[in-house]
Order: sequence, then C-alpha cells, then structure tokens
Amino acid sequence: MINASFLQFAPVLADLDLTISIIENHFKKLKNSNLLVLPELANSGYNFISKKMAVQSAEIVKKSKYFEFLIDFCKKQNIFIVSGFNEKEGSILYNSSILLGPKGYIGKYRKMHSFFNESKFFQKGNLGFPVFKTEIGNIGMLICYDWMFPEVWRILALKKADIICHPSNLVLPYAQQAVPVHALINKVFTITANRVGTEGNLSFTGKSLICNPLGEVLAHANEKDETICTAEIDISIVRNKKITPKNHIFKDRRIDEYGELFK
Ligand code: ACM
Repeated sequence: MINASFLQFAPVLADLDLTISIIENHFKKLKNSNLLVLPELANSGYNFISKKMAVQSAEIVKKSKYFEFLIDFCKKQNIFIVSGFNEKEGSILYNSSILLGPKGYIGKYRKMHSFFNESKFFQKGNLGFPVFKTEIGNIGMLICYDWMFPEVWRILALKKADIICHPSNLVLPYAQQAVPVHALINKVFTITANRVGTEGNLSFTGKSLICNPLGEVLAHANEKDETICTAEIDISIVRNKKITPKNHIFKDRRIDEYGELFK
C-alpha cells in the first residue's frame, strides 16, 4: 500500500519565487505521502502574454531552482514527486513533466498533444511515452490535453505503468469525467492534478482526482479551492489484467483488425 496525493493550486504566472512559497505552505499540510503530483507548468503558469514571458519563465533541467526546491522536499520526506514544468533546452521550450524522488532526478516526459495556443510557445513532445520503474511502482506521465487520446493511456498501460500521473491546466470540464474510464479500461491508477484560478481570459476547472483500476474516484477536489488530497492505493491489484478467469484486457484485443488506427 502507498499513499498517493495531488496538490491542486494556482501557480503565479512568471513568478517562480512566489509560486515556490505557495507550494511550501501547502507542503506543510502533507503527511505520510509516498507520491505527490502537481499541475502542468507549475514553475511558470500557463497563459503567457508573449513568447518572451514563456522563455523567461522556462528552466533548464540541470539548473532549475524549482527542481532544487522539490528534490530537497523529496529527500526530507522520502517522497516521489511528479510536476509539470516549463522546460528550456537550447532555444526550444517544451511543456514537460518531471519525476523526482528521494535520490533526485529520475526522468521526464514532454507533452505530445498541443492545446489551443500552446504551439506558439512549445514544441511537441519527442521523448515517446516513458515508464519509470521506482520502488513505489511503475510510473508513466501524461499532460493535460493528452487525456483526449485513448491510445496514449493504452501505450503506458502496455508498457506496464501502474500509476499514470496527469499534471493538468484544464480549461474544459470534460477530462474529469473521462479519466476514470481511462483508468478502468486500462486497469491502472490515475492521478490528475489540475490547477485552479484564472490567468487573463482563461479559467481553470480544478476537480483534481485520483482513480483506481475499477474507475472509482478515490479522492477529488472541488472546482476552486487550493488543496492537497490523498488516497491509499494498492499497486498489486494493477498488474493482473484479467477481468474474468477467461478475459484478459490486453490478450483479448483484436490488433489484427485495428489497422484504421494507424492511418
Ligand atoms: C491543456 O492541455 N492545458 C488544456
């Protein structure tokens, strides 16, 4: 059994120091958790008014004040953290997600599907769909609008992800209904950490949630409040993909008939 949590909050646009102080206050309320997920672009905010603002609030993985702060917390609390972040590599920005643990940096994912204006700032992901083996389970990551594509949940489940962490800045209200179904049909745990608040003309829809492989919601937040929620999850139930003694959700697939998917 492990305790899995999300932090639903509002990062401050282009103000990392203030954002860190807000997260630090929330961290004081976190007790006995093994895994914490934070929202998309948590080191920068989302609705940049210019490319310059996006670039100035991006960080390089090896020189990130945000990661230093999170890794310090991981070490002190013996916890794993997944967080969205605005990543700079050379002159390119990616909308990325990082996995950190008590020993530091573990890996990252770059968002594959760009939503609305994101392509003005970010290049699409180019790291595939990695799954990272850790002592608390196999962890895969998706970011916000990636939720709309059933293929990517399935790829992570086929790659033996136990928990799919889903940092988000959702503006549409649908994902919170769809994610339990993705959890159910792939038999995985999911943790969606959405943000709240408003930036310019965008309001974010909150309602972060943790789901089990039966599609049940184990913990959820409301649409407006900053909060940390935690649920106890049992990773051992994820690895059995049978739903009856005669039905295995991966072995029963008819991939010989799925050709249209690749057109
Ligand atoms: C989104 O992908 N941030 C809606």
